[in-house]
Amino acid sequence: MKPRPIVADVDFVGVPDFDRRLFDALIPLPDGTSYNSYLVRGRDKVALIDTVEPRTVHVLEAYLQDVPRVDYIISNHTEQDHSGSIPWALERYPQAQLLSSEPARTMLADHLGLDAAKIRAVADGERLDLGGKTLRFIYTPWVHWPETMSTYLEEDRILFSCDWFGSHIAATDLFVDGADCILAEAKRYYAEIMMPFRKIVQKNLEKIKDLEVRLIAPSHGPIHRDPASIIAAYRDWTDDKPHNTVVIPWVTMHGSTEIMVQRLIDGLAERGVTVFPFNMATADIGKMAMALVDAATLVVAAPTVHVGPHPMALEAVVLANALRPKVRFAAILGSYGWAGKMADVVKGAMFNLKVELLPSVISKGLPKPADLEAIDRLAGVIADKHRELGLV
Ligand code: FEO
Repeated sequence: MKPRPIVADVDFVGVPDFDRRLFDALIPLPDGTSYNSYLVRGRDKVALIDTVEPRTVHVLEAYLQDVPRVDYIISNHTEQDHSGSIPWALERYPQAQLLSSEPARTMLADHLGLDAAKIRAVADGERLDLGGKTLRFIYTPWVHWPETMSTYLEEDRILFSCDWFGSHIAATDLFVDGADCILAEAKRYYAEIMMPFRKIVQKNLEKIKDLEVRLIAPSHGPIHRDPASIIAAYRDWTDDKPHNTVVIPWVTMHGSTEIMVQRLIDGLAERGVTVFPFNMATADIGKMAMALVDAATLVVAAPTVHVGPHPMALEAVVLANALRPKVRFAAILGSYGWAGKMADVVKGAMFNLKVELLPSVISKGLPKPADLEAIDRLAGVIADKHRELGLV
């Protein structure tokens, strides 16, 4: 297997994983993913940037079989889908020096059992001359761990960004020319791991804004030949202003909650608000996370199981709470058989969300005309709130 050229003396030595269907045992991957590793050959020195998921290390080994020397192994990110094969690489190239950000030194030791004393921390902005190929290390923290950095190849203007700007796509093509065709999967990845750190991602975007970038080579998915389009998408996703959209994770057991949800969908649609409903019994939670990236309002709709919300609806709330989207408003729809505290439990689980809570509508059994009228009023309040923000 031969390393695949990107530009002269810069090669792709990564692995598409066509069969992977779940990431972090959490988010579905409809298009698989890839673990991208890159080889940069200077006149004097050779650097390997990130490695691959350890169970695919045989592919990296095959790529490197005719590469007798690697002088530097650069770890942009400690998570094991990129760092997990570093122990193998250090064994294969015992003379190689492992470079990382300062915060990554101890993290690499903790996660891989490496000796932190043998890892050299590079400073933010430090340059490394390989001989006609100059690498510059740029600290880009919290995309998505505290230690993450990017590596910029000055002569070829390539930004090796690791997770950010990545997408969960397995493909044999190395490049993508515009973000449009991969935007959904790039957004899915952003939603899952970057969204909680939206404000810091904004700062990182500012930090690289004057960098001349010809290619963005992330650690998952294709290499961007049109970096401006994925950067523009990131600017939109991280922007403080939400879109005129409502996300409704919902569950129904005997149909009452479903009637309420349908009424709200109709009321919002009539008022020009876009709705993304997700039946949690069947939903792709990656799609729900993507919809939360832009949403102005979250409405949770659940029947009562014993005294609390249906666990599948609570799962949606827990996920939204962890992802910390920029939603401004929230409301609860629900039903119960004889008694319940579902609304209180749902409210309590939203503690990370900085939202204005709009009036809940909770029905005993089948929703009555008064409940449906309350839902119509809720649709009106949501549309008014969106209008006040200038979203409609
Ligand atoms: Fe692709 Fe944060 O690992």
